[in-house]
Amino acid sequence: VFDNPATASVNVARRIAGIIRDKQEKQEKAVIGLATGATPVAVYAELVRMHREENLSFYNVVSFNLDEYYPMQPDAAQSYVTFMKENLFNHIDIPAENIHIPDGTLPLEEIPAFCLNYERRIGEYGGLDMQILGIGRTGHIGFNEPGSAPNSGTRLVTLDDLTRRDAARDFGGKAFVPAKAITMGIGTIFKAREIILMAWNQKKASIIKKAVEGEISSDVPATYLQLSDNVEFILDQDAASLLT
Ligand code: F6R
Repeated sequence: VFDNPATASVNVARRIAGIIRDKQEKQEKAVIGLATGATPVAVYAELVRMHREENLSFYNVVSFNLDEYYPMQPDAAQSYVTFMKENLFNHIDIPAENIHIPDGTLPLEEIPAFCLNYERRIGEYGGLDMQILGIGRTGHIGFNEPGSAPNSGTRLVTLDDLTRRDAARDFGGKAFVPAKAITMGIGTIFKAREIILMAWNQKKASIIKKAVEGEISSDVPATYLQLSDNVEFILDQDAASLLT
C-alpha cells in the first residue's frame, strides 16, 4: 500500500524497467502484458520519462495488451490501440512488430482462430514475464466479467452493464459503448510469471476488499487471483481503506 498513486506508479514502472534491463543483459526479449484505462497512465508516463532521461530502451520488449473493444476500429479515439499509442508506444522505441493488441475489426467467424493465435504467440515468446492489471468495479480483470471461468482463454466476451456505464464518459454515452470485447482469459493471465494488479481511489475500495478478502467465486473474477502465488496488489491508501 503506497501513500498515493504517483509513488505506486513509479514503483511499478521501475519493476517493469528492471525486467527489461535484466533481459537486455541476457540478450533476451522481455514479454510484458499491458493494460489500458486510467489506472496505468502514470506508469506509462514514468516509463516514457525513463526512456527519455535514463536511456531505457524498449528494443527487446514484446507487448501483449489484455483487451480491445469489439467492434472497434484501431484509429478510433476510444480504441485501446489509440490509447496505447498516445500513452506509451508513440514515445518509446518498441519495434512496431513486437506490439500485440486484440483486433477489434475482425469478422465474427475469424475471432476464435485469432484468439487461439494470440495465445500461441504469447507461448512462442516464452510466456508473459509480467502482466499488469487494473480492476473494474464488477471485479473484472482484463474484460473477464462475472461468470468467467478460471481456466478461460482469450475470447470474445459480453461487457457487463456496469462496465459499459463506467466507459460511457469516454464514448459520449452508454449507448455508444461497444457491447463486446476481445480479452485475454483468466487462464491466460494466470500463466504470467508475475502479476501486478493496481488500484487507486476510494471508488475501488469495495471491489478491492472483495477481491482480496472475499470468497473465491466467478461472481468476482479478481478473487481467482487469491489462488496464485505470483500476484501482488499495488494500492493507494484509498483503494486499500476497507481492507482489514
Ligand atoms: C483495461 C482492462 C480493464 C481495466 C479496468 C479498470 O485494459 O483490462 O480491466 O483495467 O476496467 O479501468 P480503470 O483503470 O479505467 O479504472
